[in-house]
Amino acid sequence: MKTSLFLSSIVSLAVSAAAWAENPVLEIDLSAPTKPVSPTFHGLMTEEINFSYDGGLYAELIRNRAFLDKEGTPEHWSLIEAPGAKAEMKVIDTHPLTDKLPNSLELTIASASPGQRVALANEGYWGIPVRPNTAYQATFYVRGAVTEMNKAGKVMQERFSSPLHVSLESADGGKVLAQAETAPVNAHWQKFEVTLKTGADVTPSAANKFVISAENPGTLWLSLVSLFPPTYKDRANGTRIDIMEKLAAMKPKFLRFPGGNYVEGDTLWERFDWKAMHGPLPFRPGHRSCWNYRSTDGMGLLEFMGWCEDLNMKPVLAVYAGYSLRHQAVEAGPLLEPYVQDALDEIEYLTADAKTSYWGSLRAKDGHPAPFTLKYIEIGNEDQFDHTYSYDARFTQFYDAIKAKHPELQLIATAPIKSRQPDVIDDHFYRSAEGFIKDIHHYDNHDRKGPKIFVGEWASREGSPTTNLNAAIGDAAWMTGMERNADLIVLHSYAPLFVNVNPGGMQWKSNLIGYDALNSYGSPSYYAQVMFNNNIGDSIPKMELKAAPEVRLPYSATVDSKTHTLFVKLVNPGAAEQTVRIDTKGASNIAAQGEAIKLSGGNPEDTNSITEPNKIAPVTCQVQGISASFPFTLKPYSVVVLRMHAE
Ligand code: AHR
Repeated sequence: MKTSLFLSSIVSLAVSAAAWAENPVLEIDLSAPTKPVSPTFHGLMTEEINFSYDGGLYAELIRNRAFLDKEGTPEHWSLIEAPGAKAEMKVIDTHPLTDKLPNSLELTIASASPGQRVALANEGYWGIPVRPNTAYQATFYVRGAVTEMNKAGKVMQERFSSPLHVSLESADGGKVLAQAETAPVNAHWQKFEVTLKTGADVTPSAANKFVISAENPGTLWLSLVSLFPPTYKDRANGTRIDIMEKLAAMKPKFLRFPGGNYVEGDTLWERFDWKAMHGPLPFRPGHRSCWNYRSTDGMGLLEFMGWCEDLNMKPVLAVYAGYSLRHQAVEAGPLLEPYVQDALDEIEYLTADAKTSYWGSLRAKDGHPAPFTLKYIEIGNEDQFDHTYSYDARFTQFYDAIKAKHPELQLIATAPIKSRQPDVIDDHFYRSAEGFIKDIHHYDNHDRKGPKIFVGEWASREGSPTTNLNAAIGDAAWMTGMERNADLIVLHSYAPLFVNVNPGGMQWKSNLIGYDALNSYGSPSYYAQVMFNNNIGDSIPKMELKAAPEVRLPYSATVDSKTHTLFVKLVNPGAAEQTVRIDTKGASNIAAQGEAIKLSGGNPEDTNSITEPNKIAPVTCQVQGISASFPFTLKPYSVVVLRMHAE
C-alpha cells in the first residue's frame, strides 16, 4: 500500500512536471499566509527635467516671463512694428519690479498711432496653445515713463500713459483670436489683469503668440508677464489639465519631489532652495537648473503640495543634503549646519501650526493655513556619486537633527549608511528591458529585517523621447518582481515622468508621458503602469511559477481581501504565444468569468506619439472558463492583468 502510494505520487509528480515542461504552471495558494502590500506602494517621481514644469505641467504659457532667461536679450520675445511705426526694445535692470526680479523689458516707441501699432509678442513654450470658448488670464506689471528733458530742453524720454491692448493672435499675425484692453498706464509699477476669451470659431492650435501692443509714442517697462489657461481644479498658478488627468489615471499614492538631480543642482547655488520658491511670484527669482535651462520656480514648495492634494498623494519630500553634482560636498559639522536648519525649517513650514510657529504662519500667509502631514523625508539624492565619501557623516547629521525634532518621520537614505540605520533605502535602476527581465527576482531573498526599500527611480530605457512597447514589457516584468515584494518595497516610482517632445525639449531619453503645447500622450510604459496600479490588492499570496528553465514569464499575484479579487499579472517578452496554466488552491468559490486587460503589439519597437497617442494601449476583454486550474494564452510581446473572483 505504502509502495503504491509512493509510486502514485511519483507518477503524479512526473505528470505535473511533464505538464509544466510543456506549459508553465503558476501556482497560487490562497490558503497559505500572505504578505501585505504597502499602502503607498506606487507613486510618482518628479523634477524639473525635459521641461517638466516650465513648458510642461506648470500651466504658465509665457516663456521668459521675467526677462531673466538670457543676459541682455529678451529671448522668446519679438518686436512688431506696423508700417510707419518705430520702436526699440531692450532688457534693462535699472527699473526692478522687486529685488528678486531685477530685469524688465523697456519698450521705447518713437512713433505709433491708432492703426499703426507697436507690439511685443511672446512665442510661448514652442507655441501658445489656444482652444475655442476658453478664458485665458493674462497678468503683467507695467510702468510708464514720465517726460524727461535734458538741460537744453530736449526730450530724452517721452511719457507713456495710454492703455495697452492685449491679444492672442495666430503666429502669422493674420488672425486675432481674443483681445482686451487695460486701463491707462501710470508712472509706478502697476499690475494689470485681463481675461482673453476665445470664441466658438477658434480652431485648437499652438501656432499662436501672445501680444501686448501700444498705439502711442513713449517709453514703458514690462515685468512678470503671465498667461494662464484654465487649470486643473481651477488652482491659481496651477497645472495643466490634460497632463494631470493622465497622472490621476495612474492612481499614484505618493509624489517624490523635487528630485532627482534637481534637488542637488550643479552647484550649491543652484540647489533646490525652497526658501526662494514660496510666496508671491514677484519674490521668486528662479534659478538655473542642472538640466541646463532656467526654472521660473513658479512650481515652488507649496505648488508641489497642491499637486499632492489634487491627486490625493502623500508627499515624499527630498531635502538638499549638502552635495551638488559638480562634486561639491559640504563637510559635515558646523559648515553643514545651515543646510540641516533649512531642512528643519522646510519641515516646519509644511507641518507646523500657523498660529504658534513662524514658518507655519508664513505657510498660512502663502495661502495654506492648514498644516500638511509628512511621513517620509529623503536626505539628498544618489549620494553614492559623492566621491568625497561624505554621505555617511552628512546623513548622520541630518538624521539626528530631524529625528530629535520629528521622531515620527521616516528617513530615507540614498546610498549605504553605516553609522545609523535609515528607515528606508532608495535604490535606482535604469536598464534595458532585457536587464529587467533577467533580474525579476532581485528582491525575493532580500533581508526583511533591515531598512525598507524605496525604488525611487527605475525605467527600461528603450525608445525616445518616450519609451516603446519593449520598454513597457521590461517595465512590467520589473513591476511583477517589485509587486511580489511589496511588503519590503514600501514605495516605487518611475523616472523621468515627463518630456516636452519639441526639438530642444528633451535632456533625458526614454520618458513616460510626452507632450507639446497643445496635446499629451502616454507611452506604452505609462499604460503598463496604469494597468498595474489600477489592479492591485492589499496582500501577496504564496505563489510559484513551475516552468522549464528556458521559459521567460514574469508573474505576480495580489489579492483584495475585501472584494476577494485575485489580480494576476503576466508578461510575455517573447515573439511566440505563451500558454500558462493558472492553478489556484484554497478557494472554494472561483467565478467562471473574469476580465483580462492586455497590452500588446506586433513589433517591440512600436510606440505612441503626439500623432498616434494610442497605437499601443490596453484593451479589456472578458475571460470565460476560469476555474481552479485553467489555461491562459498570452500573445507575443504582451502584458496581461487578469482580474478574477476567488474566495
Ligand atoms: O531621472 C533622471 C536622473 O537620473 C535623476 O535626476 C537622477 O536622480 C538620476 O541619475
